[in-house]
Amino acid sequence: MFCKSGLLVGLLILVNILMLYFTATTLETRKLQKIAKKTWNYHVAYPQNYRFILDQPKKCEDQKPFLVIIVPVAPQNIEARNAIRTTWGSEKLLQDKLVLVLFLLGSQSGNETLQEQLQNESQVHQDLLQSNFVDSYRNLTIKTLVMMEWLNKNCPQASYGAKVDADVLLNVRNLLHMLVSLKSLQHNYITGLVLSGNIVLRDPSSKFYIPHDVYPKSRYPPYPLGMCYIFSMDLPEKIVHIARHIRPIFIEDAYVGMCLRRLGIAPKKPPNIEQFVVKPPQRFNRCYYSGRIAILTSSQTQLISYWMDFHSDNRPC
Ligand SMILES: *[C@@H]1O[C@H](CO)[C@@H](O)[C@H](O)[C@H]1NC(C)=O
Ligand SMILES: *[C@@H]1O[C@H](CO)[C@@H](O)[C@H](O)[C@H]1NC(C)=O
Ligand SMILES: *[C@@H]1O[C@H](CO)[C@@H](O)[C@H](O)[C@H]1NC(C)=O
Repeated sequence: MFCKSGLLVGLLILVNILMLYFTATTLETRKLQKIAKKTWNYHVAYPQNYRFILDQPKKCEDQKPFLVIIVPVAPQNIEARNAIRTTWGSEKLLQDKLVLVLFLLGSQSGNETLQEQLQNESQVHQDLLQSNFVDSYRNLTIKTLVMMEWLNKNCPQASYGAKVDADVLLNVRNLLHMLVSLKSLQHNYITGLVLSGNIVLRDPSSKFYIPHDVYPKSRYPPYPLGMCYIFSMDLPEKIVHIARHIRPIFIEDAYVGMCLRRLGIAPKKPPNIEQFVVKPPQRFNRCYYSGRIAILTSSQTQLISYWMDFHSDNRPC
């Protein structure tokens, strides 16, 4: 008798605990959604009136590059800049074409030491562009738009621009070859790893969550993946202008797609899409690497050692 009721009580307690657990978890999800809504702004502050603290306004005019490559990077990430300077950033003249590589940073207010270091770095290398917006992951769209403004203002004579992330191993020779082999100088041209019909993520725990009221369509317009895209120099002005009419979301590359759609410009597949690689094979293969244009790397050490390997001329491929 005692045993039976004990079992019953035990069962009741268990059911209670389970019920409490389920209510608690649904409440928790709701709370998370609410917090996500409150603390994350899905739009970025892009008023088109940021100014440059460090600049190279005469660089394009003086050097007359064919291609200007902009690398967005965090102010404190000097290792990434040095890795690029000593590898693919050092390839300045290829096939009679001049390539200019510049780094684009935002600001970190309140760190005087860092700012002084950046000033020194800028004096030594003369390749830093620093704007006064707050540098953060959620502000990458501002960085992209500031890049377009800078190119429009300072490099209208160049033929092409490119945006390349700091963790990308770029094969400048192959990229130039691709651009030169296009039949004529392109206009309204943008290429890279073009994503078509990418789905808008509606899961609040996702890094790229976008609520319905911020972007109502279920798919983004086609856009080239942010790791590396190349465009004709008539595009920056058009993107800067149209950006006044489309509220910028924090997903940088998808936003470029939204601007292109409004401009009626379709991003083009590159001549060989296999030259743009997000997930390279696990094991290094010199022949594979020497045939690509842009490959995402997992570390600066990897970037440097792979670049050195396919640039050493003892073993051909
Ligand atoms: C300021 O920048 C320096 C140099 O990059 C860094 O070592 C230091 O940790 C930074 N300080 C703060 C408070 O972020
Ligand atoms: C910047 O350079 C000056 C002069 O070379 C040097 O005295 C100073 O220590 C440097 N500042 C930093 C933060 O590296
Ligand atoms: C983005 O930059 C703007 C302008 O500097 C700043 O007000 C805002 O706080 C920044 N946002 C984040 C998430 O860093």
